Amino acid sequence: MDIRTNIPLRAHTTMKLGGPARFFVDIHQKDELPGLFERAAKQSLPVYILGGGSNLIVKDEGFQGIIAHMKIPGFEIVAEDAGSKTIHIGAGENWDDVVKRSVDLGLSGIEAMSGIPGSTGATPVQNVGAYGQEIADTLVSLEAFDTKTGGFVTLSRNDCNFSYRQSIFRGDASGRYVITSTTLRLSKNQPAPPFYASLQAYLDEHTISLYTVETIREAVLAIRAEKLPSVNDKPSAGSFFKNALVEEWLYNDLLKQHPDMPGFAMGNGTWKIPSGWLIEHAGLKGKLLHGIRVYDKNALVLVNESASTYQDLANARDEITRTVQTAFRIQLEQEPLELA
Ligand code: EPU
Repeated sequence: MDIRTNIPLRAHTTMKLGGPARFFVDIHQKDELPGLFERAAKQSLPVYILGGGSNLIVKDEGFQGIIAHMKIPGFEIVAEDAGSKTIHIGAGENWDDVVKRSVDLGLSGIEAMSGIPGSTGATPVQNVGAYGQEIADTLVSLEAFDTKTGGFVTLSRNDCNFSYRQSIFRGDASGRYVITSTTLRLSKNQPAPPFYASLQAYLDEHTISLYTVETIREAVLAIRAEKLPSVNDKPSAGSFFKNALVEEWLYNDLLKQHPDMPGFAMGNGTWKIPSGWLIEHAGLKGKLLHGIRVYDKNALVLVNESASTYQDLANARDEITRTVQTAFRIQLEQEPLELA
């Protein structure tokens, strides 16, 4: 195991901010994990699993433990029936490569999650979703190293307790499991309407009526190119805030003052309000705060234009949450994980 020291983490996150890791190691196979965690325990060092770094914010003081960079490969069809194929995927596989490969196989279930940066093993953590699909829809199970027992476990979809941008991996069991592979069941049926509103609007506008995994992937990539900056030329972490979940009374109250405010019933007495709308209507879209730009094509995204420290980002974030709180009585929550 090649453990390196004092590795700058800004290069390993798409936000391009934050200090160094005291130790840094690449993980190529799951058998390396027990030894790594034993070693870390002996030296009382925390371990953090890094995927693509596209949903991670690192503080200026960096990380005084071991960053384990997940690189476990694998893409294997393990089962097939009349309507589906089940694929076993290594946690280190680039997510969009996985989507592309499954689309090339003509399989449906993750094509609307095209173009999302990051690694496959990270997708269950915040139940990644886009354009009407989320990983919880196709995940059958995942394998993980359980740092509590030192053994490997298989967790079913139910065990993961998925909800909007949430799972046990960032909830009750935060830090406990290292996901080493995921198993997805994908459909041989081609995608069918109803599609997510903005996806349907794009399809209509471009008179696309042949719905295949390829046409949906192409449409999603085109929509994303318009609304989300490419992490290669504009440092960002995708949506910087979760959409707001509010109780019905507050939603109705706000509607009186803002009749055009969008909202989606979650079915449990709460409403989801797009935080992008809230930030835009608080007057912040396109604004530059502490070197951080509220992206002019999508107010939910913060772009690191000229910030040099995490503190700049924290100041910008706090200014945005304060302004939205004052305007709408809603407390925005950060979406990307933050390394403690
Ligand atoms: N909106 C505005 N102003 C803005 C941005 C959005 O008014 O500046 C409004 C739009 O008009 C629309 C609504 O907000 O009515 C929703 O916008 P959109 O469909 O673009 O999606 P979103 O809710 O902003 C979520 C995910 C994205 C995902 C898209 C598409 C979260 C936090 N974000 O964004 O995920 O790609 O839906 O499914 O749930 C990510 O998590 O990093 C991410 C990019």
